Amino acid sequence: MKTINWGILGAARVNQRLLPAIENNPHSKLLMLASRREGAAQECINQYSKYPTEVEASQEFDEVIQHPDINAIYIPLANEEHTEVALKVIQHKKHVLIEKPMALTKDEVIQITNAAKKNEVQVMEGFMYAFHPQFDFIQQMIASGKLGKIQYAHSMFSFPIQPARYYRINRSIHDGGGAHWDIGPYAIHTLRKVMGGSVKRAFATAQMNTHQADMSASGILEFADHRRATFDISFECTRRSEFQIFGDKGCLKCHTVWQHENDEAIISYELDGSTPVVEKIPKGNHFDLEVSHFVNCILNNKESDKLSMNDAIHQAATMEAVYQSIQNSHWISV
Ligand SMILES: NC(=O)c1ccc[n+]([C@@H]2O[C@H](COP(=O)([O-])OP(=O)(O)OC[C@H]3O[C@@H](n4cnc5c(N)ncnc54)[C@H](OP(=O)(O)O)[C@@H]3O)[C@@H](O)[C@H]2O)c1
Repeated sequence: MKTINWGILGAARVNQRLLPAIENNPHSKLLMLASRREGAAQECINQYSKYPTEVEASQEFDEVIQHPDINAIYIPLANEEHTEVALKVIQHKKHVLIEKPMALTKDEVIQITNAAKKNEVQVMEGFMYAFHPQFDFIQQMIASGKLGKIQYAHSMFSFPIQPARYYRINRSIHDGGGAHWDIGPYAIHTLRKVMGGSVKRAFATAQMNTHQADMSASGILEFADHRRATFDISFECTRRSEFQIFGDKGCLKCHTVWQHENDEAIISYELDGSTPVVEKIPKGNHFDLEVSHFVNCILNNKESDKLSMNDAIHQAATMEAVYQSIQNSHWISV
């Protein structure tokens, strides 16, 4: 079977997770990593690669984008940089795995979608959590009808931001800074996945710092039939990484969702009239599973059924509505 040769653009922290996942995939080989900061690419390779002598470091993104042997590129750049770089990668007919959020606006995701169709390449937004076996379990629980009709869900994601990451909150939410664009995508995407159907409108409020980056935000998403979901994200609270789903026959809690691969996966649920159940799901490395899924999409020349471009478009539209609501203090239609 064909090997997918990968390049990475950016010496980002998340490479700690994704770079090994690329190297763990039997159909993948990492050829090059580029960073605009002198020495940062080599440092990143030395830190995270199992085969550091086989991965070339570069300070030029174009060396990766124009590399004749590279077929797929992973983009873990700052959120506001994703679109421009992704479009360039796609124009060079390379498949691209883009970290969440794929882009800051719905229109940008539509541009990426159209470019991918035209150049016949696969594109996927990097929501690794959707590949964890615990998420399969949750989706099966919902599909089985045991919880009844899903009426409400709540997601919470927070951790105190470390000083080394202050550059994420030293630019305004308008420019891609703050919790909304950083951890908001997970909290909102998960609600969209478990509620089913599309978000009709959104309302949110946020606590801004002096740079106008949101440190904490809470919001409501309204789905069809007036079903609601709420989220709470924060760079100021202790670590929380969980969500709960409430149907008309039962409820379920996922205790650690946007987690490290070695965290215990625990789901607890309670169906009306029966005793509460605590289910331990076998550990799974969702980064490995995410890369494996995307590689299969490339090899089989088919769009991801788990994270489609339509899903990415609606996700961006929802993120944009929440952002506008934070700015305007009104409900915003999606
Ligand atoms: N799926 C996940 O679990 C997960 C987790 C965290 C983040 N993310 C997403 O992945 C993307 C990257 O996030 P991240 O937190 O890993 O990024 P990060 O470390 O903040 O790096 C983002 C980009 O900024 C540059 N950079 C890195 N360190 C820097 C520094 N000290 N000073 C100036 N520039 C620096 C790098 O580009 P150069 O090397 O070219 O300078 C890098 O690609 C974001 O879209 C984020 O939302 C995903």
